[in-house]
Amino acid sequence: MVVAVDGPVGSGKSSICKLVAKELGFVYLDSGAMYRASAYILQHLNLHIDNLSGALEKTVFTFSDNGGRLSVFIDGKGVDVTDHIRTPEISEITSSLIAKNTAVREILVAKQQEVARMNEAEGVSLIADGRDMGTKVFPDAQCKIYLDASPEVRAQRRLKDYQRQGLDTTFEQVLKNLITRDHDDTTRVESPLMVANGAVVVDTSNMTLEESIQAMIDVISSK
Ligand code: C5P
Repeated sequence: MVVAVDGPVGSGKSSICKLVAKELGFVYLDSGAMYRASAYILQHLNLHIDNLSGALEKTVFTFSDNGGRLSVFIDGKGVDVTDHIRTPEISEITSSLIAKNTAVREILVAKQQEVARMNEAEGVSLIADGRDMGTKVFPDAQCKIYLDASPEVRAQRRLKDYQRQGLDTTFEQVLKNLITRDHDDTTRVESPLMVANGAVVVDTSNMTLEESIQAMIDVISSK
């Protein structure tokens, strides 16, 4: 089974999906981490955006659970980019540049579909989160969920993440960036963020993490 989860910045997708995957014994695919790692590669190798897809074709993305935290590696276990890809700067480059590039999206979508095929061949279910999981990457997914929350709640959650990382920022700054990224993600020509056909909308604004996990499990169990 494939569970396709989409939603805006800070809707809690990754935290919730990671824990739902653990609870149900599913594999978790964080597609946003692939877009973020691509931004890191662009920056790190000082590439022009037109040359990024060539580099990505050869890149192997690996995820591993590090005591409840998702570690992200590029080139097998070669380079650990976990801490580098969650900064405000990488977030901004990702949604304003990387996510809009058709060639990059084609490569990352193919890699995501390959992950699903490999797991399906082994009889393992997958929960994948992003912006286009239900619309583009897995349009035939058995279960589609759209996670949402108000901009203020999402900004508050993001602020806490940044504070945990020791980054110096304010609620107003985070809210402003989040609104810009929402605009980028929903208005781009290529695979914009939207509620997929047949998706169940779950609004987590007034839910705790535990309640959100349960709400997701209830939807998945009903399918
Ligand atoms: O989910 P996360 O915030 O880590 O995603 C970072 C950015 O990557 C998003 O703002 C979006 O621009 C892009 N993205 C995307 N399609 C996906 C996942 C992420 O365009 N499937």
